Amino acid sequence: MSKIVLITGTSSGFGSYAAPLLASHGYKVYATMRDISGRNREHCLAMEAQHPNIKVLELELTDSASIENSVKYIMTTEGRIDVLINNAGRFYMGIGESFTEEDLLHIYNVDVLGPWRLIRAVLPYMRNQNSGYIITVTSSLARFSCPFMTCYASAKHALEGLLQGMKYELKSSNIDFTFIEPGIYPTNVFNNFGRGSDTSRNAAYGPMAHIADGIKAQLDDLFASPHANDPMLVARAMLKLIESDSVNRPIRLPVDPNASEFTNRLNEAHDEEYLKFLTASGMGELL
Ligand SMILES: NC(=O)c1ccc[n+]([C@@H]2O[C@H](COP(=O)([O-])OP(=O)(O)OC[C@H]3O[C@@H](n4cnc5c(N)ncnc54)[C@H](OP(=O)(O)O)[C@@H]3O)[C@@H](O)[C@H]2O)c1
Repeated sequence: MSKIVLITGTSSGFGSYAAPLLASHGYKVYATMRDISGRNREHCLAMEAQHPNIKVLELELTDSASIENSVKYIMTTEGRIDVLINNAGRFYMGIGESFTEEDLLHIYNVDVLGPWRLIRAVLPYMRNQNSGYIITVTSSLARFSCPFMTCYASAKHALEGLLQGMKYELKSSNIDFTFIEPGIYPTNVFNNFGRGSDTSRNAAYGPMAHIADGIKAQLDDLFASPHANDPMLVARAMLKLIESDSVNRPIRLPVDPNASEFTNRLNEAHDEEYLKFLTASGMGELL
């Protein structure tokens, strides 16, 4: 029996590589996109044409009803969801102070509450079936913050903060979690990045206010060079995680051939102390 995978954000980037890769390895893939009869219609048709194991469903992260509809459709058709890949997300860059309260509410609505809504929608079914695997694409910026990317980094930190402890709460239901922490890849995320809407705050920062544009120009140069990372690496990491035994799966997987050493070192130091902390706090039996 094919395993059933629900993946978000397949109109471009990592999701557009992962859906056909998983389908070609025998998984039944529900590849979700938003606006499939409008802006993403061509992407939707092209995605379904790639493999008969792929079915595209409409899903908007900020709309609970669209999430419930997709999950219910899969449960009615397949009776189970084995793997959820929370991949969709948006990037934001600029002077931290230029992001207003409304901007942050929007960022968290998409990048934190979006995956959270999906997780809450699938968990009752995964608990019933006594199995499930949830991969969430965060970022190396879930492990440290970076100037001009503070709001995005805070959202990815929040996502890992929400889910890390849940891994242990749900272990007895055989539901497992992994964060994929990519470095920098040439996807649409940098073409569509959001900025702070209070541009009046930028003036006080002088030339620094234009740094986001400088970073974008540097990234465009990098992406045009032979040193650009291949987004297929992230798709392959998803496949490898799904195919690996849950005992051997890491909670965090940095994927960046150019720069994952820093994130790996942070994760290793964290994991060792975290396990000691849980044990010392009387939660050792959850490990
Ligand atoms: N590329 C990198 O260097 C990098 C590094 C670290 C982490 N990441 C993370 O990787 C994930 C995938 O991004 P990507 O790099 O593949 O970028 P991408 O090419 O821009 O893909 C992002 C996908 O998310 C979808 N999406 C955005 N907002 C959505 C919403 N409100 N509801 C539903 N879908 C939405 C987009 O759909 P539309 O086409 O409709 O906008 C698109 O399919 C994101 O979580 C991103 O934060 C990327």
